[in-house]
Amino acid sequence: MCPGRHQQTRKTATMAKILITSALPYVNGVKHLGNLIGSLLPADVHARFRRQIGDDVLFICATDEHGTPAELGALKANQDVQTFCDAQHAIQADIYRRLGLSFDHFGRTSSPQNRTLTQHFYRRLDEAGLIEERELRQIWSPVDQRFLPDRYVLGTCPYCGDESARGDQCDHCGTLLDPPELIAPRSALSGDRALEIRTSRHLFLRQSRLVDKLSTWIENRSGWPPFVVSTAKSWLTADLRDRCITRDLAWGVPVPREGFDAKVFYVWFDAPIGYIAAAQQWAAVDAVRDWRRWWWQADDVSYIQFLGKDNIPFHTVSFPATLIGSGEPWKTVDVIKGFHWLTYEGGKFSTSRHRGIFTDQALEELPADLWRWWLIANAPESADTDFSIAKFVADVNKDLADIFGNLANRIISFAHRAFDGRIPAGGVPDDAESALANDLGRRIAALRRHHEALEFRAAAAATRAIWDTANAYLQHAAPWASVRSDPDRAAVVTRTGLNLVCICAVVAWSIIPHLSERVLRAFDRCDAIPHWPDGPLAALLDGGAGTEVARLTPLVEKITPERASHLAARFGV
Ligand code: MF3
Ligand code: ZN
Repeated sequence: MCPGRHQQTRKTATMAKILITSALPYVNGVKHLGNLIGSLLPADVHARFRRQIGDDVLFICATDEHGTPAELGALKANQDVQTFCDAQHAIQADIYRRLGLSFDHFGRTSSPQNRTLTQHFYRRLDEAGLIEERELRQIWSPVDQRFLPDRYVLGTCPYCGDESARGDQCDHCGTLLDPPELIAPRSALSGDRALEIRTSRHLFLRQSRLVDKLSTWIENRSGWPPFVVSTAKSWLTADLRDRCITRDLAWGVPVPREGFDAKVFYVWFDAPIGYIAAAQQWAAVDAVRDWRRWWWQADDVSYIQFLGKDNIPFHTVSFPATLIGSGEPWKTVDVIKGFHWLTYEGGKFSTSRHRGIFTDQALEELPADLWRWWLIANAPESADTDFSIAKFVADVNKDLADIFGNLANRIISFAHRAFDGRIPAGGVPDDAESALANDLGRRIAALRRHHEALEFRAAAAATRAIWDTANAYLQHAAPWASVRSDPDRAAVVTRTGLNLVCICAVVAWSIIPHLSERVLRAFDRCDAIPHWPDGPLAALLDGGAGTEVARLTPLVEKITPERASHLAARFGV
């Protein structure tokens, strides 16, 4: 039994307050590994790390449920949109739970909170003179008897000639489009090609009026990856276009304005507001929780957003325009951690063509931490990176089975053979142990710096280096060799080795929480959040004599060549 398991960590006034959001995954369908490493997983690792060092963390995510992706997904599944979203939200929530994503709340943008808040922002922006009604040319389908916004139109991209461009964007060249720009447009619903242009009144957010304020706001941020800054600045130019924030759709947040009964807000207007609404949902279940502490006059909060590079303009321009334009003291983001793409076996992951490995499939095949480890160790931070099954298998076998797993299993089973399954007492540490403590102290400090700087690949490499250090120490000090001739020396090394394994598990917890907790449970250490080792290491390494250590089944099973070929056959290209 682990009595400490559900203990709440005590919050004190000196703790840093860290608000973390991951880009909200579209509700339509299970996400692939590229989506996972593009925002959700690094956000989780950072949230876990921050909790470990004692910060006060609020980690929020939600499904992005409005707009054409949800409507088209429902249509394909032959369900009404509400039923479809309910089911898909539950499926994604369950997958993220099994992946160990430790959201404080995983909400929904279709919530009543988000509806109220979105309409509130609209009214504030309107009062501030930042909303303008304009007549727009829209595509109308006589066969479908409706307007066809965004993804309801398919056609040829006017920029690159790709024939499968969607009304809102060409996936081939990445250009953002307006449906009437498409060449040879057709309805995504009926295939209707006899499309007409009709006019319809829409609301625009006059972002152009906010360019100066937004530029000043960006100048005052720091710690962004250079490519996020340059993308943001390329949008924030004098000719920043005003943005249409309404659509001719039925599903979404209704527009509280005369003549707009048949319209809703554009999904990209309400989705980021969903970050705040999800915090309101989080707070709604417990009177002690206060969402305002995080979002309203919250200058003492550090807010970090995690997102893929296609989301940068919405988070550096549009959402800040909504918040700043409201004239109210909303919290805006401090650091945007953007990611490049993870590619799959030399090509793109593709949801529509189901190319790549999807998160549900990944969990069917192997434990969550194997995926977590590889993705973080290879996060596309400064450029796109490629996932390949061969590399994945080789890396997790080496890092997790040969290095970390072997380390834990070897010393724990030795303690059972030689010391009755306990951390042995006896002997006094010598130079080897103090050298180890010094080295380890430096490495743990370096690891902490990488986590704090949001350097995920470097954090994984530093974690691995700590495991290597532990292995090298045990290899060299070899208690199995000295246990007969010098039992006191063997006791010191075994005690040090066992404590070392614990430390290795604790510092890896943010990346591989499940494996780490299995190791810690063997030591009966079941704290919900294993505290970062920041005390004097020599004492930590020499402590715990007498503690029972449970036998550990092999921590990580190596992926066999047979299993590797199965993976290649199932997910090969
Ligand atoms: N659903 C969007 C995507 O997957 C991300 C929305 S993030 C938010 O690209 F800011 F709108 F919430
Ligand atoms: Zn194109």
